[in-house]
Amino acid sequence: MALRGHPRLWLASAATAALVVPLAWFWQDSLLPDSYDMAAMGEVDWGGGPRSQHSHHHGTPVAELTADLDRPADVTETLTVRQEGEGYTVNGTSPGPVLEADVGDLVEVTLVNENVEDGTTLHWHGIDVPNAADGVAGVTQDAVGAGEELTYRFVADQAGSFWYHSHQVSHEQVRRGLLGAFVVHPKNPEPDVAEHLAVLHEYDSGPTLNGEAGPETVAASPGDEVRVRVVNTDNGITPVWVTGAPYRVLAVDGTEVNEPGEVTDRSYALPAGGRVDLGVTVPEGGARVDFGGTTAMVLGEDPGGATVAPTDELDLLSYGEPADPGFDPGAADREFDYRIGRRPGFLDGVPGLWWTVNGKMYPDVPMYMVSEGDVVVFDVENASDDAHPMHLHGHHAVVVSRDGDPATGSPWWVDSLEVRPGETFRIAFVADNPGIWMDHCHNLPHAVEGLVAHLMYDGVTSSYRVGGDLGNEPE
Ligand code: C2O
Ligand code: CU
Repeated sequence: MALRGHPRLWLASAATAALVVPLAWFWQDSLLPDSYDMAAMGEVDWGGGPRSQHSHHHGTPVAELTADLDRPADVTETLTVRQEGEGYTVNGTSPGPVLEADVGDLVEVTLVNENVEDGTTLHWHGIDVPNAADGVAGVTQDAVGAGEELTYRFVADQAGSFWYHSHQVSHEQVRRGLLGAFVVHPKNPEPDVAEHLAVLHEYDSGPTLNGEAGPETVAASPGDEVRVRVVNTDNGITPVWVTGAPYRVLAVDGTEVNEPGEVTDRSYALPAGGRVDLGVTVPEGGARVDFGGTTAMVLGEDPGGATVAPTDELDLLSYGEPADPGFDPGAADREFDYRIGRRPGFLDGVPGLWWTVNGKMYPDVPMYMVSEGDVVVFDVENASDDAHPMHLHGHHAVVVSRDGDPATGSPWWVDSLEVRPGETFRIAFVADNPGIWMDHCHNLPHAVEGLVAHLMYDGVTSSYRVGGDLGNEPE
């Protein structure tokens, strides 16, 4: 070997090899196969509960976890998705049409992909649909290719404010407008309350309210009761507050708050993906709902005044009055950690600073295993220095505590929970919706950077694969 006579050179190259060989191994090891079965990925975590009798090859396939196939639809819609230049429209606009249903309705939506080359899907954010209707490419369906269509069927089983968006290449498609609001009306709507929808979305052109730069003025007279349903479709938190009047937080993520009190001089920190319904009694001189100081909804007259967010935030941990959440979060069958960190490494062969869950990088993150009927507890800890709006599909969880402080207000039900740097939330829910469910950060670029795990029911098997010829790419 030529280097034998040059010990220094030999040493240098040995040092390089000592560095390069493991790096090459880490690189190689991080490569994802061309296509893979999500159910077979990750490190199985039983959360201290019983282990399965099944293997992941035997059980109910995701594709069979549908709504009652014999039940006729109460609401039928067609949503046609189109790529127009850099952006996306749904039935010709962005945001797309507002879908509406009454609670308990069977909703049937046909997605028509006119020309989106990457394929597309629809996910019903916050609606606990059956798994086969969840709209996650590669996990609950194949992406719908250009010229193809697919029908989603589910029961809108909870009244509230929700939204829909693509879950195929979602960090691109959602940001560029493939989204819309979904309102499920209660059985007995409050009479004499005027309802308005406020869909917030930042396009390349800037922040918008219901697709316009705003401010938007709605007709209202002093004494009127107004409910404003605010939907944050962006990647970051948006502070929301009311100028000119106190407000109440009527609902969070589609669930009514129990006995919400009056709020003054506090802003509401609306997480990415989250919704909040604000109640305002319009005073003499009008009121204005401010969204991040960039746009606003004027209720009647504009009260004027600065659009600066109040420095104090409303804390939902102690807001409203306690009530029975319907199960005992103290009697957990499974307890999981979802500890978010960050470190350098390779993700699918690409070097970078990537997110970790319990110290591991995607796809070696936990596969959280549950059985139907379990009471499930998660400690979601943010050990990174960025905020993460965490979104679990298919379920609503109730907040038990934050940094060890117990929740003392109304049951605080979430599907999109902002977890700030250094915070740990304990949340709990009942595993009542079998399937394979994403549990990810809704700052969608973070999801691409590996902040994705799944909740999986024992006895459920995959029907689809991520990647492959269909290019299923949920993030
Ligand atoms: Cu709003 Cu996984 O999605
Ligand atoms: Cu994040």
